[in-house]
Amino acid sequence: MSTVTTASATREHRITIRSLASRKSKGEPFTMLTAYDFTFARIFDEAGVDVLLVGDSLGNVVQGNDTTLPVTLDEVIYHTRLVARGVRRALIVGDMPFGSYQVGPEDAVRTAIRLVKEGGAHAVKLEGGVDVADSVRRIVLAQIPVMGHVGLTPQSVNRMGGYRVQGRGDEGRQRVIEDALALEAAGVFAIVLEGIPEDLGKEITALVSVPTIGIGAGVHCDAQVLVMHDLLGLNDWTPSFVKQFANLGAEASKAARAYIDEVTNRKFPGEDHVYR
Ligand code: KIV
Repeated sequence: MSTVTTASATREHRITIRSLASRKSKGEPFTMLTAYDFTFARIFDEAGVDVLLVGDSLGNVVQGNDTTLPVTLDEVIYHTRLVARGVRRALIVGDMPFGSYQVGPEDAVRTAIRLVKEGGAHAVKLEGGVDVADSVRRIVLAQIPVMGHVGLTPQSVNRMGGYRVQGRGDEGRQRVIEDALALEAAGVFAIVLEGIPEDLGKEITALVSVPTIGIGAGVHCDAQVLVMHDLLGLNDWTPSFVKQFANLGAEASKAARAYIDEVTNRKFPGEDHVYR
């Protein structure tokens, strides 16, 4: 088999924005998880997760900040590069952090290009609807696929007055719908719906032609996303919409305590762990 055939065969197995669109049309849900480093990217990719998001949630779960606002573009690029090294199949989405696109479309295009060129992202994500539609259009014109994000948008924490469920009441509901429609018209390939009532998630999913990816938006979305630290039980607190699928925090603590015990009692290193 020639090198060319091998390379194109590998590409065929990669998740693309076309394969995600086809999953929506067939009514087959897909999955997205956040990842921030090589090891977890490799584990999630091998497990079959379809999309890996290098989220600006790294500001919370990796850096220990209260909000995502301090995260810089250089930091997201760095983590995207680590993730890209561990991925063979999944679509890699680089999150555009606060301050890297709010000034205007030109800034947004520059940010998106850096995430692809320096980070190895296949696509980018930004928060907002009507307000960022022009930027989305310009990034798509630069041949970079864009994922939208509406509803509870963590970069707007100060404007929202906290992390509050969005889309409640007629006006709030209409606002989220208009944001989703503006993103669809601007050319996004998918939309994250965060922190909205389940019936609104269902309505938007039926209304737009692109896949919706829910987080705290109910079961009717075309896909779901979780922050990996929530999935794995690595945080000491999780929001009510999160399901912990493992308790690695407790396991890690148990391993550390066993290690301390064995080192302090001269049980480790034992016979099997020394060079002769
Ligand atoms: O930054 C992030 O991890 C996100 C997801 C929660 C969608 O935006």
